[in-house]
Parts: sequence; structure tokens; C-alpha cells
Amino acid sequence: MKHIDIKEVFSNAEYIGRTVTVCGWVRTARNSKNVAFIELNDGTSLKHLQIVIDKASDIDFEPALHLGTSLKIEGEVVEARQGSVEINASAITVLGTCPPEYPLQKKRHTLEFLRTMPHLRGRTNTFNAVQRVRSVMAAALHEYFQSKNFVYINTPLITGSDCEGAGEMFQVTTIGYSKEYENEADYYSNDFFGKKAGLSVSGQLEGEVAAMAMGKIYTFGPSFRAENSNTPKHLAEFWHVEPEIAFAELPDIIEEAESMIKYVIRTVLDTCPDEMKFFNQHFENGIIDRLEDLVSHDFATVTYTEAIKLLQESGEQFVYPVEWGCDLQTEHERYISEKVFKKAVFVTDYPKEIKSFYMKQNADGKTVAAVDLLVPGVGEIIGGSEREADYDKLVAAMNERGMNLDLYGDYLDLRKYGSVPHGGFGLGFERLIMYVTGVSNIRDVILYPRTVGNVR
Ligand code: 4AD
Repeated sequence: MKHIDIKEVFSNAEYIGRTVTVCGWVRTARNSKNVAFIELNDGTSLKHLQIVIDKASDIDFEPALHLGTSLKIEGEVVEARQGSVEINASAITVLGTCPPEYPLQKKRHTLEFLRTMPHLRGRTNTFNAVQRVRSVMAAALHEYFQSKNFVYINTPLITGSDCEGAGEMFQVTTIGYSKEYENEADYYSNDFFGKKAGLSVSGQLEGEVAAMAMGKIYTFGPSFRAENSNTPKHLAEFWHVEPEIAFAELPDIIEEAESMIKYVIRTVLDTCPDEMKFFNQHFENGIIDRLEDLVSHDFATVTYTEAIKLLQESGEQFVYPVEWGCDLQTEHERYISEKVFKKAVFVTDYPKEIKSFYMKQNADGKTVAAVDLLVPGVGEIIGGSEREADYDKLVAAMNERGMNLDLYGDYLDLRKYGSVPHGGFGLGFERLIMYVTGVSNIRDVILYPRTVGNVR
């Protein structure tokens, strides 16, 4: 269907005075004495395009004035108030009618209400803006890594090993367990892969394989977590950006993470001014200044041990008690980034007991070269580390955790054949979108959220 994107009509002055065809859905319609007005949106722009219909013309406009109706409109682009443009319609075709029970009425709906209709909520300003910013951020991530010689790798989603070792994997099976199997081993040997398989919680282990060949790689795909966390920042299926870098130590990993985040946010600020103004107005007053501030200053860095001290000396009453060795909860993460540093903070060198087996063991024997990035409003958005590159130390860490070494043969081989210092991190893409847009529930920054009890 030959037509022009509404975004183009707005951004290209050469259309003024020309007759064009646009398509879209009716966002609002007004019928006054001599003219009728339609606000049309085709999803390419946050701003609606005003269509003006002269009621004295022979256009059959009445069927076009209903909310949600899809239209094709031909008309002349003319200048409107405040330097904008509108269209004087010369022909209107109704592509699809929309009955009055259309759930998206003119009033402002709550995000909770909109979550009940994921197939329609994309037509609201909020979801339109979120999805467009999400798309710009995804492209910016690719641009960033491609321009720095990273190779884009697609790691398997079905896996036989649990990267994080925390037992949060969804199982992949084609048969149900029943009493006719003698034991678990018998059951799995009858299953599709002949062994236990699950949906990957992270592409890191295969990412390391690729980095040991291509030097610098990144993945960008879904990861799956079966954790029973019904919180505003956990999804069972989230999009995970995981760079892995050979010949790199923890400070190199931290530098890369900071520069990647700044690049993505700079790109959004430069290319999505309308969307950012919208988020500033409706979601978080001051968000543009906050992001400008973030990209123009260094992030803070603090060790886990120092962070624990800061929390203990804060005088705050936390729900979860703070002592060396505890996992940092969202309330702790937010206190550190929001109250202490008032900006993005890297927390490094966590106790080895609360981190994964693959992290490089520090000389103190107690901590590992791990890093999390905490940001105000959200908490952790990145988790990463330098990896243990020493074969014996890695095997010892796996044995300490009672892991089955047979499942990690490929991974251990990397430490046998030309092992190098290396590391990487995982960015939760939706969490970064929350931070950039000020939208506070992760269910509202992905088209179809998968959470406990919800798989529409
Ligand atoms: O800290 P995590 O578990 O680290 C890893 O998976 C490493 N293998 C990454 C690496 O080093 N390559 O997860 C990384 C990030 C978290 O910081 C968080 O932003 C996001 O992934 N994440 C989730 N996002 C949404 N819902 C969930 N359930 C998430 N779990 C982790």
C-alpha cells in the first residue's frame, strides 16, 4: 500500500503543499460545525497527525470518526500552528472499522489495566514510546559493539548446563515423568536429548568459548529464569546482552560497561527527544537532566566490603539485615546508588560464597573479581566478572559447590588450551529500558511479559 510514514510528514518540510497518502489508527476525533478533525497515528511517531475534513466536501467522513478505526487518507500537507503540519483530506478510505466497545478509550488508562491487553496496549502513547526507545537502544548496542570490533554471537537457548548454577532453569522435555521410569537417569535417557536439558539462564559459557576464538564477542538474546520472584524487575524471559572479552581483567570489564551504557543513553537522548519529553512529563520529572548528568560524569566504584560498611553506618532500618557475606537486596542497592553516591555505582569484589563458580578468585581467599552495576531507581542492571582462568582453581571452586564436572568439559578445556585472562558481563536489557524511560515495572517495557503465573 503506497503511503508515507507520519514521522516523515512531520520531519520533512518538502511535503508541505504536496498531496500525500498516509495510513493509521484514529486516536481521537472531533466533529464541529463545518469541519471534522481526526488525530491519526501510524506508530512511527509519538505525535499524532491532524487530519482536517471539510464537511462541505463529498467525503463520507462519519465512519472515519470512530476511535481505533484504521484509515487511509489522501490530502494536502499544510502548515499548522506552532510550526507543525496537518493534512486537508481529499479522500478517506476506512481500512478496518472499530466498534464502540474498543477497550482503549480516550481517557488515560492505568498501566495495570493495560497489562490485561498486551495485544492492544502498543497503541497507547506510553507503549508506543517505550517500544520505539527500546528499538533505538537495541540498534545502539549493536552499533557500539560493532564499531569496537566485537563479533555478534548467537548462543544456544537450549542447554545441558546451568551457567549460574543456581537451579533456576526451566526444564525442556517432550515427555512427562512417570513411575514407569526406574530413576531420574532412566527418565532423562528416554527424553528428547537423552539427558537433562533446560532453557539457558545465560549465554556466558558459550560466549567464553567464542571469545577464546574471536577475542571480543557479544550476545544479545533471551535468557530464561525460573525464579519465583514476583517483583517489578524480574521476568522469566528477559533479553540479555553479554559481551565477553579476552585479554581483559576486571578494570577493563568495568570500563567497557560504563562506555557501553553511556553510548546507548547518549543515542537515546539524541534520537528520541519527543519520547524523552513524554517520559519526563508522565513518568519521571527530571529524567532528561538525570541521564545527561549520567553520561557526562564518571560512574562511582566501591568494593562490596566498603558498601557493607556504608550500609551498616547509614542508620537506616533495612528489612534485610546487613552483614559481611549477605547478598545485597534491592533496598541496599538502591540506598547505595540513590542516597550515598546519587549516581551509577559499580560494586566489586563480592564474597565468593554468594557468587558463581566461574569468577576469578582474589588473592584474599575470600572474595572474587565480580562486579555489579547499580543505578538509582532500579538497582542492579549489570552483573559480571573476570573469569577464573586457572584450571586447578576452577576445578576446586566447582568441587566446593558439588558440581558435576562432566557437564562442563568444554568449559574446562578452555583453561587447558591457551587460557587467557578474560571476563565479561550481562546487561538486563529491560532493566536498562526501565532506567532510561522511568517506567518502574519491567512488565511495561516488553511486549509480552512472562512472569510467574503469566504466559499469555
Ligand atoms: O547477574 P546475572 O545473573 O549474571 C549472569 O547471568 C552472568 N552470566 C552474566 C555474564 O557475566 N555474562 O544476570 C545479569 C543481568 C542482571 O544484572 C540483570 O540486569 C539481568 O541480567 N537479569 C534479569 N532481568 C530481568 N529479569 C530477571 N529475572 C533477571 N535476572 C537477571
